[in-house]
Amino acid sequence: MSQSEADTDTGVAAPSSRREKGPLVYRQAVLTRLTHWVWVVCLFFLLLSGLQIFNAHPRLYIGQQSGFEFNNTAFSIHAERREDGSAAGITTVFGQRIDTTGVLGVSGPEDRPQVRGFPAWATIPSYQDLATGRVVHFFFGWVLVGTLLVWFVSSLLNGHFSRDIVPTGRELRSLPRDVADHARLRFHHGRRYSILQKLTYGIVLLVLFPLIILTGLSMSPGINSAWPWLIEIFGGRQTARTIHFGAMVLLVGFFVIHILMVVLAGPINTMRSMITGWYRIDAKRKDPR
Ligand code: HEM
Repeated sequence: MSQSEADTDTGVAAPSSRREKGPLVYRQAVLTRLTHWVWVVCLFFLLLSGLQIFNAHPRLYIGQQSGFEFNNTAFSIHAERREDGSAAGITTVFGQRIDTTGVLGVSGPEDRPQVRGFPAWATIPSYQDLATGRVVHFFFGWVLVGTLLVWFVSSLLNGHFSRDIVPTGRELRSLPRDVADHARLRFHHGRRYSILQKLTYGIVLLVLFPLIILTGLSMSPGINSAWPWLIEIFGGRQTARTIHFGAMVLLVGFFVIHILMVVLAGPINTMRSMITGWYRIDAKRKDPR
């Protein structure tokens, strides 16, 4: 972006030969972009090292206890021997058994299948190594905590939080129309996020991230002795572990829809804005919000 093309006072680009496409506006500040890409890297390592840790005991429970005498398993991955002698991977979700051979429970080359929860390609390290998985997980967990603090403080100071995350009453009333527009793949390109974006980003940043961090912290023995009330809030260690896993599943679901929306809304424009800050809004937009 050359100085002549951009009006640095208003953040709206001056008229140019590409005016009919709509002007470029400065949408995301440097710290908004930097923190976004840092948490993308963190979440990649957290997910894969988390699945490594989960593989050490691939079962989730609800309630205070776990063990043979309790029937409070919410989710499990295990292997069973079939009548023909081959191994089957079985995943159980609230009592529903699903044959997941090849991916969950039993995976790897057909001539040398391995009994393990998540497959080698979904864990860091790829081989079973709980200690390394924990080192990687805790390192990126703390980087994520620091990144979110930077995002939160900078967003409060530079107005990103009030402008782009907190919805106005008028925007909330336009939610049904925005949902219908998204369903018809009609995307509006304005300076601000749409109401659906505001709500989903708000849920990710203010609900899912804090939930996954707090449930993670509540499973740490050090935090248990310093803040014993934290584990109580989440209904005990086993329930905290289940909530931690559930938040991860929701984040993976968000990730899939997020990438799909970026592609459908115009990958070049949205990616340029998340890398350089500059975003091209619709030409016919009278109010560049
Ligand atoms: C799990 C990983 C990810 C999470 C949790 C996430 C979350 C978010 C959030 C919360 C925002 C709004 C940030 C703000 O304005 O403060 C955002 C924006 C954005 N993200 Fe991601 N993101 C993830 C991965 C990615 C990836 C891999 C890409 C690219 C391939 C991407 C592309 C974008 C773009 C282009 C925007 C700006 C959208 C727009 O301007 O309309 N994100 N993301």
